[in-house]
Amino acid sequence: MTERAKVAVLISGRGSNMTALIEASKAPDCPYAVVLVLSNKPEAEGLVLAAEAGIPTLAIDHKPFGADRERHECALDAALREAGAEYVALAGYMRVLTPYLVEAWAGRMINIHPSLLPKYPGLDTHRRAIEAGDKEAGCTAHLVTAGVDEGPVVDQAVVPVLPGDTPETLAARVLAAEHALYPRALAGLVAR
Ligand code: GAR
Repeated sequence: MTERAKVAVLISGRGSNMTALIEASKAPDCPYAVVLVLSNKPEAEGLVLAAEAGIPTLAIDHKPFGADRERHECALDAALREAGAEYVALAGYMRVLTPYLVEAWAGRMINIHPSLLPKYPGLDTHRRAIEAGDKEAGCTAHLVTAGVDEGPVVDQAVVPVLPGDTPETLAARVLAAEHALYPRALAGLVAR
């Protein structure tokens, strides 16, 4: 098999999408390998899960950088390159990126978002979908561009909104769809 694409995963929290990417990468025909899991939060639970899975991990806390987002991203970028990453997958990375990092990885940075974009960019997507009376919700894998949650769609998955759904029950249904969609979308991106 030809060399697998090297992917770094950026997280801020529990890392369930990260775990889905790592699990999928164990398949012999998976076209990518996860070479680094990087967090802006040293306490992110996902770092522990990644280490348990044998993936190199690193935390670069954003707090010491204060308002200087670019300098924090400069440190992230150096770590990504040091790890030999060719692609970056955002998986619950909860900081808005500046054009600095977005442009450095243009076309090679993907994100998973818990709505059917262009509906509901930003936060609180499930509550907004329920309040709007939507019959369908879902998730979107998209390339990262300077506009938040605005980049070209790579793939989407749809789930029903059921009577009596709360933001929590809908989030759980969408999250299961994310875990199926994201590895497939990343594999598709690196194979382009
Ligand atoms: C996921 O639902 C992901 O789509 C969302 O955060 C959650 C992270 O969960 N991302 C965003 O809202 C980004 N705008 P995880 O850490 O368990 O993968």
